Amino acid sequence: MPFPQERPRRLRATAGLRAMVRETSLRPDDFVMPLFVRPGKGLKRPIKSMPGQFQYSVDELVKAAGPLAAAGVPAVILFGIPDRKDAKATGAYAHDGIVQKATRALKQRHPDLVVMADLCFCEYTDHGHCGVVRKDGAIDNDATLELAAKTAVSQARAGCDVVAPSGMMDGQVAAVRAALDSSSFAATPILAYAVKYASAFYGPFRDAAESPPKFGDRSTHQMDPANLREALREAELDAAEGADILMVKPALPYLDVLAAVRARCRLPVAAYCVSGEYAMIKAAAAQGWIDEKRAALEALTSIKRAGADFILTYHALEAARWLA
Ligand code: PBG
Repeated sequence: MPFPQERPRRLRATAGLRAMVRETSLRPDDFVMPLFVRPGKGLKRPIKSMPGQFQYSVDELVKAAGPLAAAGVPAVILFGIPDRKDAKATGAYAHDGIVQKATRALKQRHPDLVVMADLCFCEYTDHGHCGVVRKDGAIDNDATLELAAKTAVSQARAGCDVVAPSGMMDGQVAAVRAALDSSSFAATPILAYAVKYASAFYGPFRDAAESPPKFGDRSTHQMDPANLREALREAELDAAEGADILMVKPALPYLDVLAAVRARCRLPVAAYCVSGEYAMIKAAAAQGWIDEKRAALEALTSIKRAGADFILTYHALEAARWLA
């Protein structure tokens, strides 16, 4: 046996030693909580496929933000379910749109909470697509950019701290940046869903947001799960167009992508641990097949280890409490 012999187990012998050499740690301020808001009063409707998650009316949403802030979660991202959907996604950029109302209420009650607004049209269009659909059924990229520009300004005007374009239209970050800059919102940052895959893991979200496409799918704008080089190109484009933060979504099946984006780009990088990732852990835990707390914290630690500066996760509140 050569000497000195490598014995990595020496540093695993006690909890104290393990804590001292731990390379990655989670904190409550690593998390952003996604929240769903719909018109009405006193509503807190459970989302079946996402146990522990709800569709809230604005009053209940404001109440739900209290425990989040108390647990040290610094931010939420809002998804709206409008009362009416139409071909032009009017509800996305209306002054009294559901996200605009929710933002005003949240910022009034919790001024320090960072309110992010998801910026996409699938929840607001009657056909459930992420943009303007042409007669031939294809999404009109550039017509959708005009709506994105209007929506970003409307969200910023309502008081959103961060706008988060998620439609995967070409040029959306540049369009949103230009619109914000020319409307006195040059200081509003953009969290770009830069690398968003056409993923089966969005299944539960589409129930929660009532946004599944009525025909076709999202594979003409969301990315092919097989592609990594293309992800880097998307990330570089969004950075060049003025993104302030780049996001990779989903998280666990794409840790290699997250690590590669982290290595190449100097901007903060976020990861979205999506509805299906949450639902899998919840479902297995409900069966008694895995320990929810350990599994969720392990998943979140892995996402951070791979390079995320922060994580959008439906486990935000629970994880923050577990870490307390
Ligand atoms: C688009 C959007 C989606 C998600 C976030 N923003 C759904 C989609 O692209 O179909 C999915 C998030 C999740 O699954 O948790 N508005």
